Amino acid sequence: MKVLNFGSLNYDHIYEMDHFITPKETASSLSYSRSLGGKGLNQSIALAKAGTEIYHAGMVGYDGDVLIKYLQDFGVNTDYLKQDPKNATGHAIIQVCNAENCIILFGGTNQMITPEMIDEVLEHFEAGDVLLIQNEISSLSDLIVKAHAKGMKIAFNAAPMNEKVFTYPLEYVDLLIVNEVEGKGLAKTERTDYEGIIGALQKAYPANEILLTVGGDGSYYIHGDTVIHQEAFPVEAVDTTAAGDTFTGFYLASILQKKEPSEALRIASKASSVCVQYKGAAVSIPSAEDLELI
Ligand code: RIB
Repeated sequence: MKVLNFGSLNYDHIYEMDHFITPKETASSLSYSRSLGGKGLNQSIALAKAGTEIYHAGMVGYDGDVLIKYLQDFGVNTDYLKQDPKNATGHAIIQVCNAENCIILFGGTNQMITPEMIDEVLEHFEAGDVLLIQNEISSLSDLIVKAHAKGMKIAFNAAPMNEKVFTYPLEYVDLLIVNEVEGKGLAKTERTDYEGIIGALQKAYPANEILLTVGGDGSYYIHGDTVIHQEAFPVEAVDTTAAGDTFTGFYLASILQKKEPSEALRIASKASSVCVQYKGAAVSIPSAEDLELI
C-alpha cells in the first residue's frame, strides 16, 4: 500500500502583526520572515516525520529547487513532482497576530496541475493505495474521480474552503478534514457552536469519516452517529500556522499504523500542540520522537 499526497508547495512570507490589517489601513509589521510551506508540503513533511513512506506529487516553478530538496531531505519521494521552467511557484502571505493567522494565497504552479499530469502520476498507484489532497491545486474533481475509479482511499483537507469544494465529487472522499470555519462552510450551517456544526456535518455527510479541529478546544472524529472528542494539550501557542497540517499528517500516519481513531486523534493533537509552540510552517512540524518529550 502506497501513500500519495498530490498537493501544493508554497514559499511563505510571514509578517508578525500587532493586529490584523483592515480595509484602508497601512500598517507596519513587527517582523518578517520567509519559510517553506503550502498545505501539501506541510502535510507530506508531517507524514514523513510521523514515520510514513510518502510520495509527493505536484508542481513547482523555475524557483522551486529549494522546496524539492526540502522534501527529499525528510525522505519524501519526489519522483512525481514536476518543475515548470516558465512560471513561478505558489506563495502565501501570512499575517500572524496573537498566535492566530490570516493567509493570502497566490496559486502559481499549484494551479497548473492538468488532467494529463494526473493520469501520468496515478499510473503508478493502485487499488488500496491512499490519496491525500488539499484544496490548493487545480483539477481536483478529475483527480478525485480517477483515484476513486482506481479504488484508492481518499482523504481531503477542504482548506481553503470555498465554493469550488461543492463542485467536487465528495461522495468519493473517505475522510474529510476541516477546522471549525471550514466545517461550518462545508455543512452550510449558520450555527457557530460545535454541537451545531457537528450536527450539520453529520446530516450533510452521513457516510464520510470527518475530522473537525477546533483549535484550543481540541478535535472531533465524526462518523455517522459516532462522535469522539479529544482535548487539546495545554501549551503556550506562539504561531498556529501548519498546526492543522501537522494534525492531518499525524492522524493519517497513525491510522495507517492501524491505530484506532481515538488514539490517532490523541497523537495528532499532541503533535499539533508541539507545532504551535514554534514559529513558521513546515519548520515547526515535530518528529515522532519529539512527541515522547511531552
Ligand atoms: O496551513 C498553512 C499553509 O497554508 C501555509 O504554509 C501556506 O503556504 C498555506 O498553504
